[in-house]
Parts: sequence; structure tokens; C-alpha cells
Amino acid sequence: MQKEIIITEDGSHTIFLPEQQITYHSTHGSVQESNHVFIQSGLEHIASNAKTPIHLFEMGLGTGLNAFLTAKWAEKNQIAIEYTAVELYPLSKEELAALNYAGMLGDEQHYFNNIHAAEWGVSNTISPFFQLLKQQTSLLEYVPEKTFDLIYFDAFAPLIQPELWTTEVFIKLYNVLNPGGVLTTYCSKSDVRRSMVAAGFTVEKIPGPPHKREMVRAVKK
Ligand SMILES: C[S@@+](CC[C@H](N)C(=O)[O-])C[C@H]1O[C@@H](n2cnc3c(N)ncnc32)[C@H](O)[C@@H]1O
Repeated sequence: MQKEIIITEDGSHTIFLPEQQITYHSTHGSVQESNHVFIQSGLEHIASNAKTPIHLFEMGLGTGLNAFLTAKWAEKNQIAIEYTAVELYPLSKEELAALNYAGMLGDEQHYFNNIHAAEWGVSNTISPFFQLLKQQTSLLEYVPEKTFDLIYFDAFAPLIQPELWTTEVFIKLYNVLNPGGVLTTYCSKSDVRRSMVAAGFTVEKIPGPPHKREMVRAVKK
């Protein structure tokens, strides 16, 4: 599949798929979006009440930006995180090497490199506070082996991948969350929220990153 690296408005890269006309992140800022939707609205939201280690699941590892920001957060706050991510179409070494996240965000290039060098299917120690398990599988086939406190739901938009935004998928994710667990996503479409509610979630619309009015935080009460 053809891919292009483009620069978003905050200076950080994202990947553009010309055939489908989609990007991996908001063109208004990849790092800005990831920080807002996943780190601030998810991780920081649950961190004060969470037991450690925090068990975190990501739908769609992609560029590893969310994992990288989470690893940096874990080190900075000295809070242990066990991160599991599924990815059906891993990016190539060359594509990953061309991304500017680590260069842009300071000197933690080794975290970024270690996240991508990590072996698939086994748990890897990326840093004293960040453990990573990458699974090369579809979310639809994935059989969870544990439960989670937080889910970063970072699939391509429902128009592109409607099969990932169904009540059935949200039931699966609801079932792998611990009580009080949270799922965050950038998408706040009403039919997506309806599917989440049908799955059992309590759904909150909260302010989105710049240029996006709303996003969703869904809670398992
Ligand atoms: C919107 S991108 C986000 C990627 C990533 N979170 C990032 O920050 O780069 C969606 C990701 O989901 C992956 N993906 C698509 N379908 C999938 C599936 N059925 N199961 C697991 N991953 C999938 C894509 O390859 C892509 O990496």
C-alpha cells in the first residue's frame, strides 16, 4: 500500500494513505491530538485513582506515537504501565525511521526505537516504568489474556472502517475493562456513541483537541 509522510500543523509527522485519502492523525497536529485525546483525557484522567501498574490497551499501534508519549509520561511520573497494542499492518522500519516524533519531543529517541524494535507477541521492557506487548492481529480476532484500566481506541474513522466501530466490538472492549475503566477516542459521532451505550458504556462528550469540538470518553461504571 502506498504511504506518504506529511507534516501536520504542530510540526509533527503523520502518515497519509493516498488511495484511501486518510491520515493516521489529525492534520491539525499529530502530537497535539495524541496528547489531548489519549494522554490528557485518558491516562491523566484515570491516573490519580488507578492502582499500579496501569494496564493499558491500544487499538492500532501504527506509528507508535501514543505508546511513545505514554512511555515518556510513565517515566516522568514514575508510574508503571503495562501496555498492550494490536496492529494488523505494521509499518516498515524505513517508514518508522523517517518519523520525527522523538527528534521533536526531546532526547528520548531510544524509547521510540525500542518500542519499534520490540519483539511481537512477547512482553518487552522498554524502560523501568514501561512494559510493552505488541500483537500483530486484527482487533476482531484478538483474544485478550488480561483486563485493562484504559483503552486508547485509535482506529481509522468509522466511514473507512465501519466494522471496528460496532456494538459487538464495543461489547468486547467493555468486557476487557476493569470496573471504572475508561475508553477514549477522537470520534464523537452519534451512531458511535449509540453503539458504545448499547455495549454498556456510560458515554461522555468532552472537548476535543484544537479544531475538533468534541471527543468521547466512555466509562465502565
Ligand atoms: C488511525 S491509525 C492510528 C495509529 C496509531 N495509534 C498512531 O498513533 O500512529 C489506525 C491504525 O489501526 C491499524 N489497523 C487497521 N485495522 C486494524 C485492525 N482490524 N486491527 C488492528 N489494527 C488495525 C492501522 O494499520 C493503523 O495503524
